[in-house]
Amino acid sequence: LQVNASEASAQPISDTFFGLFFEEINHAGAGGIWAELVSNRGFEAGGPNVPSNIAPWSIIGSESSLIVSTDRSSCFERNKIALKMEVLCDSKGPNICPPEGVGIYNPGYWGMNIEQGKSYKVILYVRSDDAINVSVALTGSNGSQKLASTNIIALVNEISDWTKKEFLLEAKGTNSNSRLQLTTTRKGVIWFDQVSVMPLDTYKGHGFRTDLVQMLAELKPRFFRFPGGCFVEGEWLRNAFRWKETVGPWEERPGHFGDVWFYWTDDGIGYFEFLQLAEDLGALPVWVFNNGIGHRDEVATSTEALDGIEFARGSPNSKWGSLRAAMGHQEPFDLRYVAIGNEDCGKTNYRGNYLKFYNAINSAYPDIKIITNCDASSQRLDHPADLYDYHVYTSSSDIFSRGHHFDNMPRIKPKAFVSEYAVTGKDAGKGSFLAALGEAGFLIGLERNSDVIEMVSYAPLFVNNNDRRWNPDAIVFDSSKVYGTPSYWVQQFFTESSGATLLKSTLQTNSYASLLASVISFKSSEDDETYLRIKVVNFGSDTVNLKIAIDGFDPNTVRLSGSTKTVLTSSNLMDENSFDAPTKVVPTKSLLQTAGENIDAVVPAHSLVSFDLLKE
Ligand code: AHR
Repeated sequence: LQVNASEASAQPISDTFFGLFFEEINHAGAGGIWAELVSNRGFEAGGPNVPSNIAPWSIIGSESSLIVSTDRSSCFERNKIALKMEVLCDSKGPNICPPEGVGIYNPGYWGMNIEQGKSYKVILYVRSDDAINVSVALTGSNGSQKLASTNIIALVNEISDWTKKEFLLEAKGTNSNSRLQLTTTRKGVIWFDQVSVMPLDTYKGHGFRTDLVQMLAELKPRFFRFPGGCFVEGEWLRNAFRWKETVGPWEERPGHFGDVWFYWTDDGIGYFEFLQLAEDLGALPVWVFNNGIGHRDEVATSTEALDGIEFARGSPNSKWGSLRAAMGHQEPFDLRYVAIGNEDCGKTNYRGNYLKFYNAINSAYPDIKIITNCDASSQRLDHPADLYDYHVYTSSSDIFSRGHHFDNMPRIKPKAFVSEYAVTGKDAGKGSFLAALGEAGFLIGLERNSDVIEMVSYAPLFVNNNDRRWNPDAIVFDSSKVYGTPSYWVQQFFTESSGATLLKSTLQTNSYASLLASVISFKSSEDDETYLRIKVVNFGSDTVNLKIAIDGFDPNTVRLSGSTKTVLTSSNLMDENSFDAPTKVVPTKSLLQTAGENIDAVVPAHSLVSFDLLKE
């Protein structure tokens, strides 16, 4: 490997090179990163054939003790369904309620994680024509372990109109499979609506699950693409993500059924929250909006995107900017990128709709970079764009060879946004070492072509282990645990490349095509020191003795004490991480013993090897 370390041959890698692609898939948002513990808090959940249902709420009590139904009596105009609980038993008389009471419970998303000493904010809306005494309790999964509770005691005149009740409950025990119960032993009719339980402790206080966002923060993302993926399109347009339905007070959001990944979301994590999360991560938001195209239907349209940009960037006095301000964010969000649709290039209305959106956005916000769905790496675009989207899901060997995909294309604009890449299929399992290794080779190729590539993100990002709609994913979690797949760790290892300098390097091999290498110079975000990083991926099954020669490099300027070697390999290509062994496959770092302008490196079969030379 011949490296030219002189700045003259170097080229900058974009500051926004590595980022995140978030999609509401696999319960990544609802029941995932959004810390709301109640599933279907407004009793509105429905599917394509069921307009509303109360699942996963369930009943505590027998047919003779209560009747539970829904009606349209809610005080919230955009989500009229409320739960009606007719309690037939009483504390005395012929039909006596059981001592534990009757009522309803919500198990959350496969169990609520309640932790001892932590506080939980409970909000609910309640109404009754009778005096009430309702127990609000966080319990174990069968109701027996009481972790925290309070009572709502109210006279008729205090409760005859919809009334908001709010409590802070401190947990006296821990259970990752808990539930919320609303029970009573008093006869009467009670309506409930918009029942929420949120941990008090969320990432930067903005409602996100801390452990999951921490995993994102450690990837040091420079951008955050949201909210999908196919989730943006909908199988049918009626189920597409409509940003206007996801902003404003959470109680007033209608929620919607995502019919591509087949589950209901209350849209607690809505357009505002996505923008907020991007800001909290120090990443630039990339908003993908629906452009009138679903998987199975489409219309000629061009509405709503300008309003969405005004919501994000407009002054607090503008129509939509004022809603953002009312939600607590006076200052505009730093929205500089929008994508018109997702994977819609071949659709009948794409170009027509795209041009309408493009022209309108470009004339109102000329600084916003607009991303087309049409791949310009294989043919010239027939429409204007600042970036084009490139998606690839394939085998490990194919993704490795795609490390060369951009090598020979014309060095002209627009640049690529490789916004979804991953190894899928049998090579991938639920996140194998083999997949990660192929991806590492691909990323090296992208770095080498960073003159025509501006942004890169893996997909999908999250999977709730209880609802795997897509394999593999970078981060796996359940109600209380989380781990990164080997692909996650590869991404983490590459983060320093954003904003780094790519140095010229040339590999000379006889016939061994399983090697890819790149060299960067970067200022570490950990210690602020400058390093030369040489990365090599050996995708083949032979050990390679690699001679690295670095021209224009003074070995006396290397500080050995801080220079390191990192290796990612595994004894079995299909090795995976898991809840029990979360770091089985991760890069390992050791101190370098020698460093000079010539390095004799042994690159094991199937490995990523990297040298970080600390520069004085
Ligand atoms: O990442 C999963 C899906 O793959 C995305 O929703 C879509 O854009 C792609 O086809």
